[in-house]
Amino acid sequence: MSETAGRLRVFVSRRLPERVEHLLGERYQVTLNPADTPVDAATLARAMSEYDAVCITILDRVDRDILHVGGRRAGIIANFGVGVDHIDIEAAREAGIAVTNTPGVLTEATADLALTLMLMVARRAGEGERELRAGRWTGWRPTHLMGEGLSGKTLGLVGFGRIAKATAERAHFGFGMEIAYYARREDASGAAEKLQARFQPDLPQLLQTSDIVSLHVPGGTETRHLIDADMIARMRPSGILINTARGDVIDTSALVAALAGGRIAGAGLDVYEGEPHVAPELIALENVVLLPHLGSATRETREQMGMRVLANLDAWFKGEALPDRVA
Ligand code: DGY
Repeated sequence: MSETAGRLRVFVSRRLPERVEHLLGERYQVTLNPADTPVDAATLARAMSEYDAVCITILDRVDRDILHVGGRRAGIIANFGVGVDHIDIEAAREAGIAVTNTPGVLTEATADLALTLMLMVARRAGEGERELRAGRWTGWRPTHLMGEGLSGKTLGLVGFGRIAKATAERAHFGFGMEIAYYARREDASGAAEKLQARFQPDLPQLLQTSDIVSLHVPGGTETRHLIDADMIARMRPSGILINTARGDVIDTSALVAALAGGRIAGAGLDVYEGEPHVAPELIALENVVLLPHLGSATRETREQMGMRVLANLDAWFKGEALPDRVA
């Protein structure tokens, strides 16, 4: 990096993997957040006017006011994460602020976690662990916590992007599942063909014909409550719903009612409406597995996400095309 780059000021909203923080510190004059506490809107707005670049994560909400703050200095927001539904992208475009994300590098980890949730719900692993830890396990018996196998079952994917395809590969080749997918258009990448995956352009139909439904659409206004009471009612009584995408894709109250009333068999969630708050009604249910947004949480993946952030910042400050530009 040139001497000029050394003087560029970068604000980082949360702790990042050590190696990433180290590299950022070598290249830029960086303000880190060693306490790792969430930053508020006022701090973000201040960062936009005092720094050349702002690096945020998925829980930092960036609305129009922050983007249009008076005396703005930052020209780029480098998001540590692939989803950008927490950023007002339209307002960023209007303000001429570049926004980047970290696509590709978290595909495998997130797909692994979707499978983790499927197995945990289908095999009742959460229930079993809670029982054992509470000292309630009385020993092996033929009818104890019988779950469902995945082999031969149909996995219905809502969305057929990178993470959905990686999930489908694991489910099909690893667990012998049949794959169906709902998307705007039929896959032309060859992935569906390789997986012998059935295209289903009608969402209710996909829900009706799947044993496990896994959500892989981006968050935001277009997909908010895509899975509402009506859609959940289309699922089979033995159906399982998995969400590693965004919490607000599901209407939580409708899901709670369906799980509590036994209208579907179970759910596995990694993301929540209004997270990190999780509805107490969900926590009280036995037939749901709840993880704290761990989709991309492997050491390797989080470092690679950091490397994407660095690549985007470096390109920006050198005046080059941004590798992962979303605005
Ligand atoms: C993302 O990058 O958007 C994920 O939700 C973080 O795991």
